[in-house]
Formats: sequence, structure tokens, C-alpha cells
Amino acid sequence: MSLLFSPFDLTGLQLPNRVVMAPMTRSRAETGVPDDQTAIYYAQRASAGLIITEGAPVSQQGNGYLHTPGIYTDEQGAGWAKVTQAVHKRGGRIFVQLWHVGRVSHTSLQPDGAAPVSASALRAEGALSYAIGPDGQPGQQPASIPRALATDEIAGITADFVAAAKRAMLAGFDGVEIHGANSYLFEQFLNANSNQRADRYGGSVENRLRFLMETIDAVAAEIGMNRTGVRISPFGRLSGMTGYDGEADTWLAVAEALEARQPAYVHLSDQLTIGGEAMPAGFPSQFCKTFTGTLIAAGGFTKETGEQALEDGALDLIAFGKPFIGNPDLVERMRNDWPINEAPREAFYGGTGSAGYTDFPTWREQVDTQQTNAAQKDK
Ligand SMILES: Cc1cc2nc3c(=O)[nH]c(=O)nc-3n(C[C@H](O)[C@H](O)[C@H](O)COP(=O)(O)O)c2cc1C
Repeated sequence: MSLLFSPFDLTGLQLPNRVVMAPMTRSRAETGVPDDQTAIYYAQRASAGLIITEGAPVSQQGNGYLHTPGIYTDEQGAGWAKVTQAVHKRGGRIFVQLWHVGRVSHTSLQPDGAAPVSASALRAEGALSYAIGPDGQPGQQPASIPRALATDEIAGITADFVAAAKRAMLAGFDGVEIHGANSYLFEQFLNANSNQRADRYGGSVENRLRFLMETIDAVAAEIGMNRTGVRISPFGRLSGMTGYDGEADTWLAVAEALEARQPAYVHLSDQLTIGGEAMPAGFPSQFCKTFTGTLIAAGGFTKETGEQALEDGALDLIAFGKPFIGNPDLVERMRNDWPINEAPREAFYGGTGSAGYTDFPTWREQVDTQQTNAAQKDK
């Protein structure tokens, strides 16, 4: 019997299958507000057991890429409400990913052209922000040198996450995912190289994970721990993140701290298929010895490897990223062994209207088109 297509109780939210749509930035929100196309896009993918939206910046300071839909104004909240309504109408479930990029940003995106913020004033080497260049045109820009957050500013960022979570629940989301992965602000605090602080947010493992844990606790106090998920990328190497002594112990300590809290889930982001490195072999099984709650992983899964991973027992849910871009009915395609389309790389980020976004057909639509084309050819 397939586990991938079997139901799962996510702290009271009933998922009809264990296929999760991974968070994917699509850079389609011209004005930073989700629009009708956003609603269509997510509603088309409502047969996923759970949708996790693209990263939604919790503040202007938290934004590192043009055209990403935020969740810090009433207008953005109203845009997201249209998205959740459309998904729920199609019988789906949807969490929003709450995002602060930290140093992976550019002065042209920041309030008053200020420097982006981070744990320490260390540039994210090799990292690119999608921002306004010196020529006034949008394009990829090297991340600007950040300034270190003052100790008393950190609670303000936690408050931005709480406000965004509150706004998310008002907009009808089923929960939120705190983005602690992929080199962004929380990882900049977790990593002993990017965090050179001497206050209670730097130095020891306990100190480096304090900001993430305080934010999880504060968000959960507002919306409930059972509606609060968290994404991390153990041993992450994207956007200038590097290895350090005691890295394995850091991730074990994160697992312990999360076990003590029992969030709705922990979502492991393996970076091999997004330009980074794979997590050490067997890491999820090690992690789940300490963190016994719901565990999701993403990164290069197929139906077969996802099914196998569920059978092996470490993971409860499997997240698929890129396959969801070109296949709105990915669940049905995998369930029935129908062909899976590969979306062109150019479609991943940016663009307007439906092209490369909401115009990927379901398998049935694809077959209908093929039949119509064949019939016309025969005439
Ligand atoms: C176009 C694109 C945008 C992404 N944006 C995000 C994001 O906003 N937040 C995030 O945590 N991960 C993001 N990711 C990573 C995915 O969630 C996922 O972990 C990754 O694609 C690996 O899964 P896959 O091999 O099934 O694609 C993105 C990936 C892609 C391809």
C-alpha cells in the first residue's frame, strides 16, 4: 500500500495525502501584493496534501528580491485572503512561509536605502539579491554589506514575525512556516561563522539558536504551536554559508530545542538540487531520534524515492518543489503514473500574466489538447 497517498493528521489538520508543495519564490508580484494569478496558481495545486507558499517577507527590511509578495500590509493580507479562499474552495490546505532574508539583500530594497541587517557585519560572499542596479534597472546584484543588529532590535524582528503570523491567520491560512533555512536571517544567527556576536545571541550554541527559538515561541503564543511549522537546512551551504567546528552539535541542539517545543512540523531543506550540497547521508534518521514530531524533507524527491523514504520511517511527509511548477496535478500524475512535465528554468522566476505560471496543463488537459491536435491534423 502506498504511504505517499495515505492520509496524515497534522496536529488536527487532516491531510488527504503526504505530498507537500515546497515553498517556491516565483517573483511574480509586481507590487509585492499577491493577485488573482497567485490565487489561481495555488488553487490549481490544491490536491497537494499541504501547500507551503513561497517565502513572504515579514517586513520591507526582510525582503531581498523584487516582486516577492509580502505579508506586512493590509493590502498584502487582502491579497493572501483571496489565495487562501481559492485554495480552500478547491479542498486544499495552505501554510504561508514567513521570511526575513537578513544580509541576502541590497540597499535598493531597504527602507531609506539603508544597509541590510544580519547577525554580524559580514557580507554574504557570492550571494545575489534581485534588486535595482546602479543603472536603475532591475537585475541580480551582489548582496550589500550588512550591519549587525543591535541586541535590542532583535525583539522587533520577532514582533514582525508575530504580526505577520497574526495577519496570516486573519487571511485564512491554516498555519505558518518560519523560514529558518537556506542562508537567510535565522541561519545567519545559527551559523558560527556568520554570527560573530558577543551578546546573548552569539557565541555558544544555546545563544546562536536563541533568536529562532524566541521567534517560534512568540509566534506560537499568538497562533498556537500546532499551527507553527519551521524550516531549517542543516549543514546549509547556500549564499556564502560555510562549515564550522561544532556544526553537527549545533543541529543536534536545534533538534533538542524543537523537541521541547513540538511545532506543527520541522521541514528539512536539502540543498543539493538548488545549487548547494546534500545533507550528510542518514541525517534525517539521526535528527528524528531527537526530534520525534512530524518531519518533512524536500530536495530531489520522486514518487519512488519519496515512497521509500516514508517506508524507511524517518520522514512523515515529502515535499516536492520544481515538479509542482510544471504540474498543477502532480499528486494525480504521481498516483496514476502519468508523465511528469519539466518546467523550463526560465519560468521559475519572474514574468507576468499566466505564461509559465498558471498555464501548465493537467494531464487530462494535456491529453485533450493532444487529441484535438491529432484530429485537426487528420482533417
Ligand atoms: C524556483 C524556486 C524557488 C524557491 N523558493 C524558495 C522559498 O521561497 N523558500 C524556501 O524555503 N525554499 C525555496 N526553494 C527551495 C524549495 O522549497 C525546495 O526545497 C527545492 O526546490 C528542492 O526541492 P526539489 O528538488 O523538489 O525542487 C525554491 C526552489 C525553487 C526551484
